Amino acid sequence: MNLPEHLPKAELHLHIEGTLEPELAFALAARNGVDLPYADTEELRRAYRFDDLRSFLDLYYALMTVLRTADDFAELADAYLARAAAQGVRHAEIFFDPQAHTDRGIPLGTVVEGLARALERSEERHGVTTQLIMCFLRDRSAEAARETLDAAKPYLRHIAGVGLDSAEVGHPPAEFREVYEAAAALGLRKVAHAGEEGPPSYVREALDVLGVERIDHGLRAMEDPELVRRLVRDRVPLTLCPLSNVRLRAVDLLEDHPLKAMMDAGLLVTVNSDDPAYFGGYVGDTFHAVREALALTEDDLRRLARNSFEAAFLDHDEELRARYLAEVDAYTFD
Ligand code: HPA
Ligand code: ZN
Repeated sequence: MNLPEHLPKAELHLHIEGTLEPELAFALAARNGVDLPYADTEELRRAYRFDDLRSFLDLYYALMTVLRTADDFAELADAYLARAAAQGVRHAEIFFDPQAHTDRGIPLGTVVEGLARALERSEERHGVTTQLIMCFLRDRSAEAARETLDAAKPYLRHIAGVGLDSAEVGHPPAEFREVYEAAAALGLRKVAHAGEEGPPSYVREALDVLGVERIDHGLRAMEDPELVRRLVRDRVPLTLCPLSNVRLRAVDLLEDHPLKAMMDAGLLVTVNSDDPAYFGGYVGDTFHAVREALALTEDDLRRLARNSFEAAFLDHDEELRARYLAEVDAYTFD
């Protein structure tokens, strides 16, 4: 059945560690001899109640300690790709947090090797093309980010770009100017989380100081009309994550989400799942939820799907982008 929410689309804001479902977390914990402070998946799921970004990140970092071997990372990524494919994802640009693993003694090579193994098979297995984006943790130092970039040099054939995530407030983008310059010199693409909880000035800084090509979230840009005009004029993509914004209380209710207002303002917005195991849905589920809550039309959904391919890092293969866009146009709704 051709559900509207299963339109062909690209997912551009997805933390692979945020796809760790409770069942897999317990299976990996058993396999690796890691003790989880929860009796079972039910009890773990009950802990998925967050007050803000920080309270989510505490659980997110705690639970990922079950990931230890390259096989674990491959299994995690393959499970995501299978689910994403079933909801219409044709192309995925996937974040990972190297420091969250290297800081607990897992070599970067183990992480990248496992993820790359799943990604390399993804087109054949799931019909999903992929890229990997390495995120620096902004609540650690700029030096630590620089060390992470240096450590990644042997693996750059697997890595398309750099991003910036973790706790935002108090950690402005400008602190990471040098590491972003170094990343660009290595030919890496640049994105950054900004305006999720942080002020509109962080969005400006990410553009002006880091030279990012897309803003992850960018929700709070709406507080600054001049910034909105600029984002519209320059067609800067914003990778929105509406279910995440509700769960982390950036907006009260999905019905209050500015997604539709942002579309109406002419912004190039995309809809993504962020950390789907924690926030109640993968990207097709998210399309479904925003369609209901914001009364989006089929044309709106088609536009969001088109935006996702327009914002994707497919410059090296414009033919592929054109093919994906044609798939969106040809998709019929039941
Ligand atoms: N924001 C910032 N950092 C993150 C997120 C997020 O939503 N998910 C995983 N790391
Ligand atoms: Zn995110």
